[in-house]
This record gives sequence, structure tokens and C-alpha cells, in this order.
Amino acid sequence: MLYSLLAGGKRVRPVLTLATARAIGLDPERVVPAAAAVELVHTYSLIHDDLPAMDDDDTRRGRPTLHRARGEDVAILAGDGLFAEAIRLLCERQHGEPERVLAALAELSGATGVDGMVGGQYLDVIGAASRPEAPLELRELHARKTGRLISASVAIPLHLGGVSEVDRIPYERFADELGVLFQIVDDILDVTGSDRELGKPQGSDERHGKLTYVSRFGLEGARELAARSHAQALAALDGADGRTEDLRLIADFIHTRQR
Ligand code: IPE
Ligand code: IPE
Ligand code: MG
Ligand code: MG
Ligand code: MG
Repeated sequence: MLYSLLAGGKRVRPVLTLATARAIGLDPERVVPAAAAVELVHTYSLIHDDLPAMDDDDTRRGRPTLHRARGEDVAILAGDGLFAEAIRLLCERQHGEPERVLAALAELSGATGVDGMVGGQYLDVIGAASRPEAPLELRELHARKTGRLISASVAIPLHLGGVSEVDRIPYERFADELGVLFQIVDDILDVTGSDRELGKPQGSDERHGKLTYVSRFGLEGARELAARSHAQALAALDGADGRTEDLRLIADFIHTRQR
């Protein structure tokens, strides 16, 4: 678990949690356990995503993937363990009124499960978006596989801070769009990036015949959709009550990142 966690990574999700806390006037220190829990779930998703039965990739975060370094058995267990420890971290270490912590817990587990990462990964591995008999919007797949956990990174501090349902709306719109943007850019980088910069193998999607924003819309098309998504994410924040400068900078980073 530590091998994969401490290999690095951009920490975009926990940083989003801290930045959202700051935006709503909540001390970011107060949400560190929740922010860490999101990163544990994300790291678990990467370990399993790389397994031979899934994307079968050999490098991650600039190191051999966990199953390469320690074996598939250990990698499966490390992923399972990280998920359970994430839940435990939220339950045992996150301060706040019980109903707020519970709402954060529901958000994290919902973003991980069938309506989130796991469901999206399932749709990805069965090639749901390329099935002629039941076409599924690629956006829907991306929203689940990657978007929901990114949205949760923003929604969790909103719950912990007790932000009203109405005041959450602009932040939620921002986060939903940001999540899809993140995966569109990931698809683009899979084509245009280098192993060294990415810390993972370039060209993995093409090798596995994955349907991505690039394979469906072409590189230029994907770039245009990314630009539109970025603009929509920022526009959503215009309606937010709070100091959103850091969130805007994160959106810019996600749009222009090279790794
Ligand atoms: C990669 O996520 C997997 C996707 C959900 C697209 P990141 O690009 O955030 O990976 P790290 O955490 O920086 O390694
Ligand atoms: C997987 O998407 C997203 C996860 C839920 C881990 P990818 O398969 O495109 O992620 P990378 O490119 O291997 O990081
Ligand atoms: Mg994958
Ligand atoms: Mg992958
Ligand atoms: Mg990818």
C-alpha cells in the first residue's frame, strides 16, 4: 500500500478537497483525513486498473506497477486494503458533526461503487460505449469512471462544512465538469505524452483498443471538447458563493497539465 501511495502522483483530488474547504471558509486542516481518504481510494483504483486482467500496464507513477513489483496477489489485496482503510480513516479521524461525517462517507462510497468508479471501470472493460446495440455516451462512462471521485473531492468538504443544498449547486456543477475534463485530458495525454513525463505507459488505450475521446473525436476534436469543458467548469463557479481562486487555478492545471 505504501509502495503505491508514496510513489508520488499529482494529488489532484486531495488538493481539490483542501481548496474547496478554503473556498467555503473552512480551515483546510479540518478536512485532511477526508482528503487523504479520497487519495487512498484513488490509489486503490490505479493498482487494480493496472492489473493484467484490466489494463495490463507495467509502470505507474514512475515505478513498476505494484503487481510487477510484488505480485498480483499482493496488488489485489493492497487495493482492497486501501479502500477499507479509506473508510476507516473517515470514520475514525474525521472531525465534525456525525451526520456531516456520515454524508461525507456516503459521498465517498457512492463515488467508488456502482454509480461511480467501479461501475465506470466495468463499462470500460466490457466496451459499453462502443456497443452498437446499446450505445452509451462516452461522457457517461467518463463521468462514472473518473468524474465521480473528482466530484466527491469537492462535495465532501461541502458536506463537512454544512453548506446548504442550494449553495452546493454551483460547486457540484463545477466538479462534475472538471471530472469529465480530467479524463478527456487523460485520453489526450495517452496519445501525446511520453512514458517519462506520464510515469505510466503512453499508448495504453490504443494497445487495448479502448474507446476514448481521442479515438472517437480525433485529437483536435478531443482538444476542442476539453477547452469547452474547461470553460463550462469555470462558468459554473461564477455562481458560487466563496473564494474560488484556487479552484480556478486547479481547473487550469487540469486542462493544461502534461502529466
Ligand atoms: C489517473 O489519475 C487515472 C485517472 C483517473 C485518469 P491521475 O492522473 O490523477 O494519477 P496520479 O494520482 O497523478 O498518479
Ligand atoms: C482509469 O482510466 C481510471 C480509473 C478509475 C483508475 P485509465 O485506465 O485511462 O487510467 P490510466 O491512464 O491508466 O491512469
Ligand atoms: Mg483503465
Ligand atoms: Mg489504465
Ligand atoms: Mg488513461
